[in-house]
Amino acid sequence: MRFFENQPAVTNAPEGRVEGVAKVTGSGKYAAEYHAGNMCYAVMAGSTIASGTIKSIHTTDARQVAGVLDIITHTRKPLVPGMADAAKIKESRFGLPVFHTDNIYFKGQPIALVIAETLEDATYAASLISAEYTTTEAKVDFDKAHAAVPLNAAGKERGSADAWRDAPYQSEAEYTIEHEVHNPMEMHATIAHWEGPDKLKLYDKNQGVNNVQRTFARLWNIPADNIEVFSEFVGGGFGSGLRVWPHCLAAIMAAKQVNRPVKLVLTRPQMFLLTGYRPKSWQKVRMGADAGGRFTGLLHQARHSTSVYESFNDGITRISRMVYNISNVKTEQATVPLNMSTPTWMRGPGDCSGAFAVECTVDELSYQLKQDPVALRLKNLAITHDPESGKPWSTHYLNECIEKGAALINWQQRKPLPGQDKEGDWAIGYGMATGMWNAGRGNASAGITMQRDGAITVKTAMTDIGTGTGTGIQNIAHEQTGIAKNKIKIELGNSHLPPAPSQGGSTGLSTISGAVAATCNALKQKLAGYAAAQDDTYKNAQAADIVLSDTGISWQTAGNHFIAYTSLFEKNNLTTVEVEASSGPGAERQQYAFCSSAAHFCRVKVHTKTGKVKIDKMVTVADGGSIVNEKAAANQISGAVVGGIGMALMEEQATDQRYGSLIGNDLAGYHFAVNADAPVIEVAFINKPDKNINPSGAKGLGEVGIIGCAAAIVNAIYHATGKRLRSLPVTPDKIL
Ligand code: MOS
Repeated sequence: MRFFENQPAVTNAPEGRVEGVAKVTGSGKYAAEYHAGNMCYAVMAGSTIASGTIKSIHTTDARQVAGVLDIITHTRKPLVPGMADAAKIKESRFGLPVFHTDNIYFKGQPIALVIAETLEDATYAASLISAEYTTTEAKVDFDKAHAAVPLNAAGKERGSADAWRDAPYQSEAEYTIEHEVHNPMEMHATIAHWEGPDKLKLYDKNQGVNNVQRTFARLWNIPADNIEVFSEFVGGGFGSGLRVWPHCLAAIMAAKQVNRPVKLVLTRPQMFLLTGYRPKSWQKVRMGADAGGRFTGLLHQARHSTSVYESFNDGITRISRMVYNISNVKTEQATVPLNMSTPTWMRGPGDCSGAFAVECTVDELSYQLKQDPVALRLKNLAITHDPESGKPWSTHYLNECIEKGAALINWQQRKPLPGQDKEGDWAIGYGMATGMWNAGRGNASAGITMQRDGAITVKTAMTDIGTGTGTGIQNIAHEQTGIAKNKIKIELGNSHLPPAPSQGGSTGLSTISGAVAATCNALKQKLAGYAAAQDDTYKNAQAADIVLSDTGISWQTAGNHFIAYTSLFEKNNLTTVEVEASSGPGAERQQYAFCSSAAHFCRVKVHTKTGKVKIDKMVTVADGGSIVNEKAAANQISGAVVGGIGMALMEEQATDQRYGSLIGNDLAGYHFAVNADAPVIEVAFINKPDKNINPSGAKGLGEVGIIGCAAAIVNAIYHATGKRLRSLPVTPDKIL
């Protein structure tokens, strides 16, 4: 489908997002938009050094500010039971033991929290806080630090690690990617409200309410049921909401300290500092091909940054073990601790970084071999089996993605040699690359409440971070029950709803679709039970025998033995019918390997005098199994491609090497792709069901839209200019 070119006309048809009107009109509330009675505000003050210990904190001036209620520091705080001592802190797996240590691990680390009547009082008072430190040497220079860190084996080694050396065609090169930051539009925020000594309510921006609930049940040593977490509307996440960050605990501590509801909203610079980022990475890829273009060996090494207080591991080399059929593969990784906050999963985590290096290497080999990059990839894909586990792929259509994408961008018109195509001062280039991602599935529950008019509400704790999960759930419930979409409401993002895992890793829809299908069956079964009292046909009915409509229940075909819901409800004296069911992966995971994939194609124009790059066109063809909702799915992919453009050309979080400060940590200083940088993005799908993965046949799409995207762009720049660039982002200075 042509996503941006032939958008369907906007109508009132229920094809839009289930949350669309609420989000656009503002009636749907983000975490920071809630208000609790008697609420006050908290603002964090950060350390001014990157490494050392706090000698003393001066809060006297801040305390004088009218409206200040209290100030939390490591010497004055409500003790969090899960952080009572060093052993507990380690056990907590929380990461930064905020306000429970005098150690400073990075610049800007929260050292004090001002609680005041207004946001302005708290902000002003926080600016008056100062501290004395014992300073130790900070390590923030990844380039200097990484070479000394030994590499460890990652994944299973196959054949001989040195096989690439014996190949007639070889590439050996290093690749680097700068730190990148998620930057969802909605700031992370928490409103914490202790409704009793061990009863907590949180409005919090996150990607998984049950994860937040479990984390604080552990830290405060209270039953999970005593904690209610709301994250009903989420304005983007990109991975930044998959962890529970220090500010969330800080808000809860503040609410405890003053015994009032407290709101804590991060500023944009704090978003760069305290909610994770994609770690900076170094990679070395050594790859060989025989004269026919068969890949014979691959050695892929990667190091990436982490913090000094916690190790985060990005699976950068995983992609090298899954895409191509290579007999000799070795992958190695290491993390490099820096005096920065802990990085986290971001947009196609790991694979996205790895695919940049490997897919550029494949491109380089194609020019050495004088073979078309499309044909070279098709020749080497691991089509039938996952090379790592040896299991057959349940479904795998990366070859079809590549073929379809080549046709859509008119790959044939590409000139084989680089630097041959010019339009005035603009050099024209075509590039392509592939991406893959493990198609996962977790355990989840969903519930349905039916009203006597046949309207249903489908409920689950899963969040929708803007991906269209709620809309997908509505589509699946409609298909499973036959009830019209406008009679199906969706309730999400509350920890008291049927439990579900966090939305991330492209597993959301794959996971929840099973639970929704199971719940729809449970509804049919329950309604049949009520129907049996009126009509013997329904005795011993199975869900498959039941047909629902907007108005009633039938036996096997619509209208047969029809009983209206109103009659069922009346005869059985019901006000609502409630069901809940769970579903998760099973034996199919032992039998098959599951993947989603994508092929990215790009036409760029590179200005030969200024080094400016314009993406003229992007085509991405993805295999995500069945496409449950084409519009939401295409949104996912085109949004991910915009992220890929940012990764390729703009995104970089620089660090001051002397003081460890982040430079350009706001939306003016940190460049990412905006509308003017994004061309026509043509998105197409293979849209064939994976019948083994779950009842919907959908495999998940979020990540593959970006994995390989930056490589396609950089490969196109090579084709335009003859210049091989291996450091992201490719800014104009690197091109000239
Ligand atoms: Mo995504 S990095 O799985 O939120």
